[in-house]
Order: sequence, then structure tokens, then C-alpha cells
Amino acid sequence: MKKEAGIVLDVNHLMSDVVGAQYGISREMVADREAQARAAHRAVQKARGTGWLGWTELPYNQGEILAEIEKTAEWVRGRFENFVVLGIGGSALGPIAVQQALNHLRYNELPARQRKGPRLYVEDNIDPERMLALLDVIDTRKTCFNVVTKSGATAETMSQYLIISRLLQEKAGEGWQEHMIATTDREKGNLIRLAKKEGFRHFFVPSSVGGRFSELSPVGLLPAAVCGIDIRELLKGAAAMDARCREEDPWKNPALLEAVLQVIAMEEMGVNVLVMMPYADSLKYMADWFCQLWAESLGKNVTRKGMAVNVGQTPVKSLGVTDQHSQLQLYTEGPYDKIVTFLRVGAFREDADIPHGCEEFPDVAFLGGKTLGQLLDAEFKGTQYALLRAGRMSQTLLLPVVSAHTVGQLLYFFMMATAYAGELMDIDAFNQPGVEESKIASYAVLGNDAEKYRKKQEEMAGQPEGSAAYRLG
Ligand code: PA5
Repeated sequence: MKKEAGIVLDVNHLMSDVVGAQYGISREMVADREAQARAAHRAVQKARGTGWLGWTELPYNQGEILAEIEKTAEWVRGRFENFVVLGIGGSALGPIAVQQALNHLRYNELPARQRKGPRLYVEDNIDPERMLALLDVIDTRKTCFNVVTKSGATAETMSQYLIISRLLQEKAGEGWQEHMIATTDREKGNLIRLAKKEGFRHFFVPSSVGGRFSELSPVGLLPAAVCGIDIRELLKGAAAMDARCREEDPWKNPALLEAVLQVIAMEEMGVNVLVMMPYADSLKYMADWFCQLWAESLGKNVTRKGMAVNVGQTPVKSLGVTDQHSQLQLYTEGPYDKIVTFLRVGAFREDADIPHGCEEFPDVAFLGGKTLGQLLDAEFKGTQYALLRAGRMSQTLLLPVVSAHTVGQLLYFFMMATAYAGELMDIDAFNQPGVEESKIASYAVLGNDAEKYRKKQEEMAGQPEGSAAYRLG
């Protein structure tokens, strides 16, 4: 059997012996954390598959579910022109990232015969203009809607459901329920009740898998399979990374090393910004997926024992080379508060030759005979060097090639690193009270009559009104 290449984590430019003693992390700093790192690793291993760590087992425990997903995907492909995911946060960012990584970069614009499935739209906002714009370009009678909400209660997604189900009843008439697939918790929330009442096809998000850790569950696997992505390879990639993450020694376990280095940077060096900068458009939305994972998991105000801390690194998305021409100035000369994580591709799946020409202009002519891939990689090397020269920390994750296998590795790597970082920081990486607070407050504004929202309304009535002097215009 062909052995798939592993992704490489290169932390050279984080280390003081490379980036400079005053800027980098020393081996001694890592050694001082070693016992803590090993304990974090053991804690994660011990809790595998339990509590909120159900995602650790997704590469192994979905045999029948995979068959069901593939069957449903085939049915969708044979019947619909469009597949629309209605979901937000963890129910949307993974499907967007994986589709961008593994399908044609202009997938929806390709003629049907060149696509491996229906067009895919992931509607992760409730901007009314966006909803109406979608309805302008799809024929609902030829569209399958995948309503995805782990809690089965998210207002944004349920409003989308209300709009679309009414529309389907009007346009598709009898049998409209065939156009809906629900992905939700087995018991909690209203979506599962609706799915059973209406007879929608449905898939479950395991109760031990939270939204931002759900990409390798039916949340991400169904849209991917519908668009012809090899979901078994995705899971094999995740399992391969899991095997590498069984090591207790941080210098042998990439996700553990990553967590240790980021926590040292945060806690000992005040490096509170992590820039995710893919040098490949296929990985552009991996940065969005990562930003949610890192921010929502690690941005917390108390430890697990309830001590006030206010911790977390601010993740920032960036794109090479585009953002060299927008953000890079800040990264090379601004405050020493950032780590830039490059996502680099070893070999592009396709490349474009740059023809010879403009011989009278040497600064243009030298590009002739190269490829765009070479230029992009040269610009990566240039940026990496510019940061090094300015004493700025960076690290590189190299994907030998972007494939279902390496993307599976990458997803699992980041989820594991997040779990380890949560352990090292002694915070609950799996809750999101700050998000819940905003959800409750917005329901209160909309006048939801349930007790907790009424209380929130009263509380909100007491907020300072502010001064007219501070409102200009
Ligand atoms: O990670 C999380 O738990 C959140 O970001 C959720 O994914 C997001 O709030 C959407 O929740 P749900 O899937 O329950 O609709």
C-alpha cells in the first residue's frame, strides 16, 4: 500500500538559536515545560472519546455512517443541481475550508459535467441581501438543503430553515421534504424533532463532538462527499496524524510541540497574536476554520478551577502572497507580539508557465521561463526571510501536496494542538460562554418570551444609555 506523505511542522524560525536570543524560544524554555507537556498529553489520551473529546475517535468509529453518507451523497448527486448548507460557525467553516482545499477553485462555475457533484453554497450568515441573492441564482426545485446545527437551536440557522421550508412548500409542493437533510444532535434541540415530524433524511453529530471540532463528523463529511471528495482518505489522514500524536515527547509529537511553543510564546513572551498565512488559495479558508477553533477554544476568562485569567491568542487570517501587499509591513516592523504560521505546499497540483517576453525590460524578462508556483514559493521564502531578518517569529506547516489525506492530517493536527493548549493553559477549551451570552442577549432583543430571555431583557434595560456627545453625524 502506498504510504502517504506526512505534513511537516518546521519551527526553526520560532527558536532562539535561529531567530535570535532576544526574540525566540530557547530549548531550555521547552525543557522547562516538558513535564507539563507530558501531563497534558496523558490527560488528553485518557479522556479520548469521552466528554467533549468525541472528535478524537471520528477517524475510527464511523463505519456504517460513512456508508450511509456515501449513499445519500450519490442520491443527492443524481437528483439536484445545487447543495446548500445552512449553518454557522463550526457547522459551516469546515465544509467551506475542505471544499476550497480539495475541489476546483472555481467549482461552482464549472459546467456540470466537469464537476463531481452539484454546486455547493454554504450560507453562514443571515444578511437578508445574501439570502435573496442566493435565491436569485438557484432553482429551489433543483436544490437540496442541508440544515446543520449541533444544538438544533441556533437562531440564524433556524430562521434560514423557516424561510427555505416555506419556499420549498410553495415551489416544490408535495414531497418538499426530500429537499431537506438535517444534521444535528440525536436528542437536543428542535431540529431533530422537526426532522422526525417531517420525515427529513438526517444525520447525527455525536453528543461528545462540539461545533468547531465537528468537521470530520457528518457535518463536514456529507457536503464533502456530495461534492465528490474522498471522505475515507480525509479520515485516513486524520488517523495518520493521530498516530503521530500518540507520542508523549513533545519533540516527537507535532501537535504537542505546537501547543507547548504557542503557550510559551503567550505566557512567557506576551506573543498574543497568531497569524495564519497560507501560501495557497486552496488553503485560504483553512485560516478561517483555524481562527474559530483557536479563538473560541482558547479565549477564556477563567481557569477550570474558576480563577480569573483572561487568556487567549488572537488568530488573524492572512493570505500569501496577497497580504504581503497589505499586512506584511505590520508583521515585519510592528510590535513583537505575533507568530506567523505559514501553510506551504510542496507541489501544486497544477502549475502555470510564465512565458518569455519583454526582453527590453530586464526586471520583467527575468520572470520568463519560471512558473507561477515557483514565483509564489519564492515569495514565501522572501517573506519568511524578511521576518527572520527583522527578528520576528514564524513557523511553517508544509503539505507535500494538498490532498484529502494531508487535509485530514492538518485538521486533526490543529484540533489536537488546541486540546493540548487548553490543558497547558488549564482552561476549558470546549465551552463558549462568551458566544452563549451574545446568543441570549440577541434573543432577548427579539422579544423571545422564555424566562431566561425576559430576565436578560430586564438586565439589558439597565445598560448605560451613553451620551449624545459621543454620537456624531
Ligand atoms: O464551536 C461551536 O460550538 C460554535 O461555534 C457553533 O459551531 C456555532 O455557534 C453554531 O452552533 P450550532 O451548530 O449549534 O448551530
